[in-house]
Amino acid sequence: MKIFVTRPIPQAGLDILRKAYPHFQMNMEDRVLTRDELLSTVPGLDGLLSLLTDRIDAELLDVAGPQLKIVANHAVGFDNVDLKAATERGVLITNTPGVLTDATADHAWALLFAVARRIPESENFLRAGKFKGWGPLMFLGGDVTGRTLGVVGAGRIGHHMALRSRGFNMRVLYTDEFVNTTLEQEVGARKVGLDELLREADFVSLHVPLLPSTRHLINATSLRKMKPTAYLINTSRGPVIDEAALAEALRAGIIAGAALDVFENEPAVYPGLLELDNIVLTPHTASATIATRSNMATMAANNLLAGLRGERPENLVNTEVWGKHRR
Ligand code: DGY
Repeated sequence: MKIFVTRPIPQAGLDILRKAYPHFQMNMEDRVLTRDELLSTVPGLDGLLSLLTDRIDAELLDVAGPQLKIVANHAVGFDNVDLKAATERGVLITNTPGVLTDATADHAWALLFAVARRIPESENFLRAGKFKGWGPLMFLGGDVTGRTLGVVGAGRIGHHMALRSRGFNMRVLYTDEFVNTTLEQEVGARKVGLDELLREADFVSLHVPLLPSTRHLINATSLRKMKPTAYLINTSRGPVIDEAALAEALRAGIIAGAALDVFENEPAVYPGLLELDNIVLTPHTASATIATRSNMATMAANNLLAGLRGERPENLVNTEVWGKHRR
């Protein structure tokens, strides 16, 4: 079997692959392959272990050839994959759900507190030697305890983000296609429309997948519906927010602050955002704990091996491929 891993992943995943296929190939450099580099490595592959930074589309699948059985994505999100093209070609696509739920929900809270209590801003002030003594007006921020949390998308990660609000005695509103009865029972959460959530929430945390319907879900119009004292948190996908509109809203005081882990055109960040103090930015690291990344690598490797063995991988995304005639 010819296997390629597009960038070094945690050892646990590599060990699994090596045990089954000692001669698998990997990009040894810790960087994203250019499109040309990626295309030049895929011809003849049976299995590809990809990252969210690799675009898996019809062109790549055709260049790889009809023997390609599986692309195991090392991420829960799979908006980097053209699912339709993969399904049409009988290629299995897998992801890594569940193992990063806690880490991502934790990170959303880290961002929430960081922006509400102005942690990076005040730390920079201190490090710059500007702290000359306690001041009653220094770095006043927003309260968290007892406020309203608005969770946009109450799937796995949104649900667990909301659960953590119990420690802070918060009212929880959520939007979702489905009623999340468990969440309603656990924290008394109430399902509302997006407009109501934006109007009522002190903290709006985004947890939707990137789909045509969620691209720029947060734009100039929706930002104007939020309270001027509210904060926006994004650990989902960058294009869910119109960054130019957000920069303008933060500059004009339409909302109080924002904290982003993901960006519209990663790794680029809209320049207007970098100039602002009322925003906290992290480089897509919400799932970046040692244990979580190791579990993601293990899951992706196991999915890849199952697909190569002709078994149904545990985390198959395009389930309709299974049972169809596969090449
Ligand atoms: C994912 O898995 O989709 C995250 O964005 C990165 O861990």
